[in-house]
Amino acid sequence: MVPGQLIDKHVMITAGPTYEPIDPVRFIGNRSSGKMGFALAQAARESGANVTLISGPVSLTTPTGVKRIDVETTEQMANAVDASLESCDIFISCAAVADYRPKLFEQEKIKKTEKQPLQIELQPTKDIVSAVTTSHNRPSFVVGFAAETQNLVEYAQSKLERKKLDMIAANWVGQKQGFAVDDNALHVIWNDGEQTLPLMPKTQLARELMTLIIKRFYAKNSI
Ligand code: C5P
Repeated sequence: MVPGQLIDKHVMITAGPTYEPIDPVRFIGNRSSGKMGFALAQAARESGANVTLISGPVSLTTPTGVKRIDVETTEQMANAVDASLESCDIFISCAAVADYRPKLFEQEKIKKTEKQPLQIELQPTKDIVSAVTTSHNRPSFVVGFAAETQNLVEYAQSKLERKKLDMIAANWVGQKQGFAVDDNALHVIWNDGEQTLPLMPKTQLARELMTLIIKRFYAKNSI
């Protein structure tokens, strides 16, 4: 990574999980710690970019010089992204957004009924990165993530196409890798190339991924 490569560029990054409330005390969420997204925000800042970090609920310190916006739900994350999209050059969708949310929010705490199963109807959340790639304010470079437990490359490739991304960073989850750990490895795919970034600390991995993003961003914009 060369310092200053992204001076005058605006990089927006989503990070962490989203929480979808069931009632005033319960929610649906996932195991994302936000570490990769925060490390990417720091790496982008080190490259000289103006960085907006839109974060779900995490317990991490904001990297120096990064503008952080805290959200809880997918809808709040989508609105925060939309509000800053016009000025954005590179969008990195690192958040592990909840796929479903309860159709109804119960105003009062749901009482436990012994031995009775509880059914909660779920509906899909809005796909934030797809809304970004189809927006009239589409940033010139959009990166997505894919966390998978099987068929990693095949699923990532299909997400790259379906979500109209410029690049996708795929990682295995569930084998001491991925969520809530300090080390990770990535298989990065773009339209006409791919590269494996081997297991290393997320801070270093973020710098290597940022180097790739910057290279592809300028390759795309020099045509
Ligand atoms: O479809 P899947 O959730 O596996 O795709 C992962 C990519 O899509 C990630 O970049 C994630 O941040 C993004 N995503 C999103 N909004 C959703 C679901 C996923 O932006 N509702």
